[in-house]
Amino acid sequence: MCGIVGAIGLGNCSPMLLDSLKRLEYRGYDSSGIVTSDAGEFELRRSVGKIKNLEETVNEKPLSGSIGLGHTRWATHGGVSERNAHPHIAADRVAIVHNGIIENYESIKAKLHAKGYNILSDTDSEVIAHLFVEAFEAGLTPSEATRRVTSEIDGAYAFAAISKDFPNLIIAARNSSPLAIGLGDTGSFIGSDAIALAPVTRRVIYLKDLDYAIVRADAVQVFRPDGSETKREPVIVSASLALINKGGYRHFMEKEIYEQPDSIANTIRAFSGVNGKIALGVSSRTLGNINGIVMLAAGTSYFASLVARYWIERIAKIPVSCELASEFHYREPVTSGINTALAISQSGESLDTLKAINFAAERNLSTIALVNVLDSSIARDSDFVLETKAGPEIGVASTKAFTAQLTVLITLAVAIAEAKNELHELQVKKTLGQIKLLPGLVAKTLDAFESIKPVAGELKSVQSVLFLGRGPLFPIALEGALKLKELSYIHAEGFAAGEMKHGPIALIEEKLPVIGLLANDNLIGKVISNLKEANSRGGTIILIADEKVANSIDFASYVITVPASDPVLAPILFSVPVQILAYLTALDKGTDVDQPRNLAKSVTVE
Ligand code: F6R
Repeated sequence: MCGIVGAIGLGNCSPMLLDSLKRLEYRGYDSSGIVTSDAGEFELRRSVGKIKNLEETVNEKPLSGSIGLGHTRWATHGGVSERNAHPHIAADRVAIVHNGIIENYESIKAKLHAKGYNILSDTDSEVIAHLFVEAFEAGLTPSEATRRVTSEIDGAYAFAAISKDFPNLIIAARNSSPLAIGLGDTGSFIGSDAIALAPVTRRVIYLKDLDYAIVRADAVQVFRPDGSETKREPVIVSASLALINKGGYRHFMEKEIYEQPDSIANTIRAFSGVNGKIALGVSSRTLGNINGIVMLAAGTSYFASLVARYWIERIAKIPVSCELASEFHYREPVTSGINTALAISQSGESLDTLKAINFAAERNLSTIALVNVLDSSIARDSDFVLETKAGPEIGVASTKAFTAQLTVLITLAVAIAEAKNELHELQVKKTLGQIKLLPGLVAKTLDAFESIKPVAGELKSVQSVLFLGRGPLFPIALEGALKLKELSYIHAEGFAAGEMKHGPIALIEEKLPVIGLLANDNLIGKVISNLKEANSRGGTIILIADEKVANSIDFASYVITVPASDPVLAPILFSVPVQILAYLTALDKGTDVDQPRNLAKSVTVE
C-alpha cells in the first residue's frame, strides 16, 4: 500500500502533487508528505494523519519548485510519526518515496551505519535514499545507480527518487508494487495508479516488474535490470477517472452502495453477446476444457469466491477450491488434477493474490483474472481477464465491486455449464433471465435503508455481533461480519448456522445480537431451527429474509426484507442489507466510513 506521486516540468508542482495524493489517499492515510526541489534546494513538508493535514501545512508554508515527490503512508515499519513519514532525505542529497517493504533493510541499515550514514527514521524505506547517495558518491550515473540500488534491496517496491546531483530527472523503479508514468504536454508524472494522474494526463506507461525509468520533463526512458533500454507503449486511460467525486452523497461508500443497480447492469451488459448469448471473452472451448478451478483471493473478494464455489459446483459440476491468497503458495499445495486458477481482486493489485496467481501459472495452470481495474498487475499477468464494470471504487470497504464480482461469477458458472453441456439451452436462458433481473431487484433492496436504521441504532452500543447463514448465504454472513467490524470496529463473526452447535453457540448470552440470513431455499427449515437455538439461549434475533418467508419466524426482534427472488440470486441481494447495516452503524458510531482506521484499499504488501 502507500501511494506515491512525482512531477517534473510543471511550473510549481506542489498543488498537483497534493491533488494526486488526495486521489491516492485510499492507499493509506497514516501520514503524508511532499518534497520539492527549488533552485537546487530541497523543501520538505510532512504531516501525520490525513492529506488535509498536509494541505494545511503546505498552505501555512507553501512549497515551490518544478520537480517533486509526494507520498501517503500506510505504516508497516516504524510507527506513525512525522519522522517516519515519507519523503525521506539522505545527506541533503537524495529524496525518496517508497511503497512496499524492503525485507533486508536491517542488514542494509547496519552496513550503512558502519559506513557512517546517518539514518533518521525507523522505516525500511529510508535505506533506499542512502544507497543512492552511496552510488552517486561512487560516481555512478542515474541508470547505473538504480541498477546497483535495486540489486541490493529485496522485497516489494515501487519507489521514486530525486537527487541534487541530477536535478532534471526523477528515478522510478518497481518490483511487485504498481507504478504508472504519466506523459503530459509539458511535463512527466509518476503515480501508484492512473487515477492519481488523471487530472494532468491520460497517457500512461505502466512499468513492468523490475523495470526502472529515468523520467525527464520531455522524455521517459525505461530500462530492464541488466541496464538495457526497453520500450513500453503508452496507453490512454479512461476519462472517467478524472471525475471521481461523492456526487452529493455523504460518503463514497454510500454512493457506491447506491450505484449497485448500475454497476451490476453495466457488468451484465458487458457480458451479453448477440441473441442473448454469454460473451465473457473466453472461448467456449477454453471453458469446456476447465476440469476444476482453484480460486485465489483475499478479504471480501475471497468471500465472493466462496459464493462462486456453490454456484459453479452446483451448476457447472466441476470441483472448485477457494484459497486465501496469502496462504496458498506458502502451503505448497498440490494442484495436479485441476487445470485452472481464477484470481479475484477488485484492485487487481493485492500482492497476496498476485503472488498466488503467478505461483499457479508456474504450476502450468491456465490463469483467469476477475478484476475491476483492467490495467492492473493481476490482469496483466493472467491468461484471460474478466472485468467487473463497477467503475472506480474509492470507499475502502468494498461494496459495488463485490456484487459485480458475484454477477460475473454466476454468469461464469452458467457459461462453463453451457460449454460442458451440463445445462441445456432452456436452462441457460432461464438462469440468464434471472441474472438480468438483478439490477431491478438490487434497486428494490436499497429501500431497506429505512428499516435498517433502528437496527444500526441498536448495534452501535454492543460489543459483539454474530451473523449466521447457510449454503451460499454462509459467505454473506462472513462478509456481513467483516463489513461491520472494519467500519464500526464492533467485534463480529460470521458462522455457518449449522456449525454453531459445534462450539460457537457458547458465545450466545442474553441480548447478543444474532443476525440471521434466511433465503427462500431448501435450507430454510434448518436455518430457522438454528436461529431458534440461538434465540432460546438469549440471543436477540435480527432477521434478514426473503420477503416471501420473512414471517416464517415469530421470534425475531427486527425483520429486514429483501425482494422475493430465485434463491440463486440470494447471495447478491443479501449483500446489500449487510453493507447498509455496517454503513449505518458506522455512521451512528461516528467512525470514519470511507477510511476506517488501520486499513488501506490496495494492499500491496505481504
Ligand atoms: C473489505 C475489503 C478487503 C478487500 C481485500 C482484497 O471491505 O475491501 O477485504 O476485499 O483487501 O482486495 P482486492 O479485491 O482489491 O484484491
